[in-house]
Amino acid sequence: MSEKTRLCSLDELTEGTGKEFAAAGRVIAVFRIGDEVHAMDGLCPHAGGPIGTGTVRKGVVTCPWHGWQFDVRTGQHCQSSIQTTVFETSVENGEVYITLPE
Ligand code: FES
Repeated sequence: MSEKTRLCSLDELTEGTGKEFAAAGRVIAVFRIGDEVHAMDGLCPHAGGPIGTGTVRKGVVTCPWHGWQFDVRTGQHCQSSIQTTVFETSVENGEVYITLPE
C-alpha cells in the first residue's frame, strides 16, 4: 500500500536547487526541472548528507557534503552503480504530490 501526500505548490520549488521536506517519517529531497518534479531519499547514501540542499545542473544534483552526484530522475549515481531511492511524484493543478511506500 502507498500513501499519496501533498508536499507544496509547484511555485515553491526553484530550478537549480533542491528542497527538503519531511513526510511519513522520512526526509525527502525534491527537485524541479521545468514543470517536472522529481523526488528522492533526502539522505545521501554516502554519509547521510542533505542532498535536497544540493545544486542541480542538467538534471544532476551534487551533494553539498562531498560532491557525489545523482541523476534526479532515476536516483542513479553518476560514476558508480549506487542507486538511491526515488519516489513517484505528480503535479495536479499546480500542487505537488508524492507517493510514499508505507
Ligand atoms: S554525504 Fe553526500 S557526498 Fe558524502
